Amino acid sequence: MESTESTFRFGTGSVGETEGVGELLGGLLVPGDVIGLVGELGAGKTAFVRGVARGAGVPTGHPVNSPTFTILNVYEGRECLLFHLDLYRLDDPSELEGIGMSELQSGRGMLLVEWADRYPDALPSDRLTITLRTSGQDMRDVLVTAGGPQSQELLDELRGAFESAA
Ligand SMILES: Nc1ncnc2c1ncn2[C@@H]1O[C@H](COP(=O)(O)OP(=O)(O)O)[C@@H](O)[C@H]1O
Ligand SMILES: [Mg+2]
Repeated sequence: MESTESTFRFGTGSVGETEGVGELLGGLLVPGDVIGLVGELGAGKTAFVRGVARGAGVPTGHPVNSPTFTILNVYEGRECLLFHLDLYRLDDPSELEGIGMSELQSGRGMLLVEWADRYPDALPSDRLTITLRTSGQDMRDVLVTAGGPQSQELLDELRGAFESAA
């Protein structure tokens, strides 16, 4: 479990643990933050987002599912909106213009993007990337990387919250 300044790595042993780390992150987000989620189908991207939503104050019980066909879900958090994007079925990044991509990044809310690696150029480079990899039936390796100063700050805060929660 080594970590360098701009990356943070840990493992989870259950879906609840993955959601729990997401919840820690959700409590740290501020409007304008962008989170990219990377990993195969079933890696736990949506589970992580479900935790983030809880941490950001989206009422428990509010459904948080992959917006695979709708592309965008919007949740109402404690103080602002959570935009949940899924690029899996997007055929062309120009389709993102139709959903007001620039507005989603403009600070009205936090943006979470599943399959962020499909169209990385459609996203700001200063984003926090969460890469999940299945390492056993209920085990996931999670790598958190920062792409710039804003996400680096978030990464450091997440590492701090993770260590004090452990
Ligand atoms: N440690 C874990 N972290 C996240 N999900 C896990 C874990 N162990 C088992 N799972 C299961 O893996 C699946 C992850 O699904 P989901 O979050 O929808 O993935 P994705 O959005 O990446 O396709 C769920 O069925 C969940 O219960
Ligand atoms: Mg998903």
